[in-house]
Amino acid sequence: VPEQVLAGKKVTITAGPTREALDPVRYLSNHSSGKMGFAIAAAAARAGAEVTLIAGPVRLDTPAGVTRVDVVSTDDMLAAAEQAADDSDLFIAAAAVVDFRPAIVAEQKIKKEDGNDSDVLSLVKNPDIVATIAARKNKRPFVVGFAAETEKVIEHAKGKLARKNLDMIVANDVSDPAGGFNSDRNQVVIIDNAGETALPAALKTELAAELIKRIAERAFAGTHP
Ligand code: C5P
Repeated sequence: VPEQVLAGKKVTITAGPTREALDPVRYLSNHSSGKMGFAIAAAAARAGAEVTLIAGPVRLDTPAGVTRVDVVSTDDMLAAAEQAADDSDLFIAAAAVVDFRPAIVAEQKIKKEDGNDSDVLSLVKNPDIVATIAARKNKRPFVVGFAAETEKVIEHAKGKLARKNLDMIVANDVSDPAGGFNSDRNQVVIIDNAGETALPAALKTELAAELIKRIAERAFAGTHP
């Protein structure tokens, strides 16, 4: 039995990709497997938390003791996150949110015969879910984000920590074959205002337990359930 470092705490976690419809048969998305977010949800539940897992379209089983909310689009993930965050002590954003969505969702299948030879898609920026939660004045949980980078990992992650007003960010180098999107393993650096801590490469399940321990220390040190 692991230490109940999150006993009595309410935790919301976003995981997996989002998916944006172009027309009734097509969508924009990414290769996120959801494994890291689901592993964190499982670890948080084992640590005694009441966990809400907001999941984009992934093929993963719901971890034991976790309340799962399935969503598809970024707007739906934001709405579910806003609602769950109202009642959360900790918000962990592990989702790989699609940054841009089609400006118009075509009601009928887009046809190549319609004279569309190029520039068929016009995109608009999606809302930033974790930044929206972190910008709250009221009902603001402790907010943790992830940064998947391919270069200047620490520098870019620190930029996101500041820009999105996060309390902590977990950075990983997705160009490294030892970790990233579809892998079972990952290697991360935890960054907050106090500094940086590199964790050794590990299975995502092991890493999740270690992350939960360290997040709980930072978020709730000195508080009692
Ligand atoms: O800017 P970038 O997508 O790299 O930031 C990553 C962090 O921000 C992750 O924690 C991710 O879940 C979160 N994010 C979000 N909403 C977005 C984009 C990113 O919550 N629209």
